[in-house]
Amino acid sequence: MLNDLPQPVIFAHRGASAHAPENTLTAFELALRQGADAIELDAKLCADGHVVVMHDASVDRTTDGSGLVDEMPLEVLRELDAGCRFDSAFCGERVPTLEEVFAAFGNKTFINVELTNYRSLRDDLPERVAELVRRHKLERSVLFSSFNPLALRHIHRLIPEVPIGLLALPGAAGAWARSPLGNCIPHQALHPAIQDARPPLIQTQHRRGRRVHVYTVNSPQEIATLFRWEVDGIFTDDPLLARQIREERA
Ligand code: G3P
Repeated sequence: MLNDLPQPVIFAHRGASAHAPENTLTAFELALRQGADAIELDAKLCADGHVVVMHDASVDRTTDGSGLVDEMPLEVLRELDAGCRFDSAFCGERVPTLEEVFAAFGNKTFINVELTNYRSLRDDLPERVAELVRRHKLERSVLFSSFNPLALRHIHRLIPEVPIGLLALPGAAGAWARSPLGNCIPHQALHPAIQDARPPLIQTQHRRGRRVHVYTVNSPQEIATLFRWEVDGIFTDDPLLARQIREERA
């Protein structure tokens, strides 16, 4: 369960994405070997309704293909190489489905599933993800997050026992989520951008009974500062570094 994880929680952002291609099985496996407490991944629907793990709306940046994920059926997505662009050592890596990640890691670690239906705010992603969580019996080992409040409201109705992290966009665009207006979305944790994570915000959220998990924190100085400010977790591309800093503090 979220509250049973070490404090502050080290979430491997898209896996150990400083050292392996983001959102791949290899990046998740490496994150666990590097001592991450949890992994973070991005879930979205492809054209034929499967839940796939990819951050961007298009495959262009992370694979050898081009096009929009929601216009490509799984069969086509699976032919893409999701490793070569990162480093030739990772050629042959595939775009995973959420089902595959749950099967491989669901009983090994805690998983933050970001609902990334940002091009189709009211699609079936919440139903599909909730069904997968129930089928794999992972209600106690996942956390949902999103910048899309509609998706969070929807999935909370479907599976209310799973905690929710409300992602706040950086700066003015995310001000509503960091303010009391954010209370209209059920959530146990606020996920602010690093530039907005300052002691007053952290203390206010704690007074409201909420956790604070900050994204995306990669420099040693920033990691150490946020730990000193008593955040409850960070998303980092480099879980090994964050572990070292947490151990030095202890
Ligand atoms: O979930 C934390 C972080 O991943 C949110 O930002 O842009 O990586 O989805 P982004």
